[in-house]
Amino acid sequence: MTDRPKVLATRLMPEAVETRFHSEFAAISNPDDRPLDSDAVVAGATGCRGIICSPTEKMDADTIARLPESVEILATFSVGCDHIDLNAAKARGLIVTNTPDVLTDATADTTILCLLGAARMAQDSERILRQGKWGRWAPRDMLGVHMSGKRLGIVGMGRIGQAVARRAQGFGMTVLYHNRRPLNAPDDQGATFYADAADMLPHCDFLALTCPLTPETHHWLNAERIALLPDGAVVANTARGPVLVDDALIDALKSGKVFAAGLDVFTGEPKLDPRYLDLPNVFLLPHIGSATVETRNDMGFRCLDNLAAHFSGRPLPSRVV
Ligand code: DGY
Repeated sequence: MTDRPKVLATRLMPEAVETRFHSEFAAISNPDDRPLDSDAVVAGATGCRGIICSPTEKMDADTIARLPESVEILATFSVGCDHIDLNAAKARGLIVTNTPDVLTDATADTTILCLLGAARMAQDSERILRQGKWGRWAPRDMLGVHMSGKRLGIVGMGRIGQAVARRAQGFGMTVLYHNRRPLNAPDDQGATFYADAADMLPHCDFLALTCPLTPETHHWLNAERIALLPDGAVVANTARGPVLVDDALIDALKSGKVFAAGLDVFTGEPKLDPRYLDLPNVFLLPHIGSATVETRNDMGFRCLDNLAAHFSGRPLPSRVV
């Protein structure tokens, strides 16, 4: 018997995090990292006071309603909360925490990687090399477009958007942003605010989607908005797949309206629209925005810090509801 609070972790976390998890809590982990559906989460949480979940578990209203009464807190191993029905959590009095800040740099780095990888046709060039098809250096081969000095529009100027803006300035880019509200200096990073995205899009040689997925941002980048971009724009999505409309982006990639796209997230992932795989002008990553050793450790520790604070009655480092 232990008086340590019983907590279920739905996914196998980094080793250092699991070690601390087991030392501070009556920990139930998922050593084989097998996928847990809603029934398995509900059953696994029997007698638990807390759950560490991740974006791979849909914590919808039904699942939340079926959780054992004993569950007081849901700590998600992510900054994004679109997999959790926050209203249902609030109504049930379930505390939800996430992992902001610690993944800002890694995700901003990945956004720059997507922009640059797409602009410079990095994946297709690497494919040519790996397939032994690189015949010789040639003035006209494997031409991308310049990123330095261009104009970048950022959709969603939260922590990650701001970190992307800082990096983009290192490339001499002019930064514009669209957000629910304008930011004060220095958070605005000196970028120009557009209340109406339709006014910003015609000035975006590059466009980075870094907003949370909400009903307002669902399918935000659609055919109508793509049409407003300059011809040959470059688009990156490190937010969530459903922030853009795949049909519209694929049409634009095929026609050349969009020169290239860098995508780290997909609707229905880990599946993705197979048409992307056949396009030479997309730079594809499997949702690795926060995937560095340092960041994943910090995300796990943040989950544990939130749980520990809750169980000892201290203020929670990152409470969502
Ligand atoms: C998040 O934290 O929301 C990411 O998408 C996973 O790193």
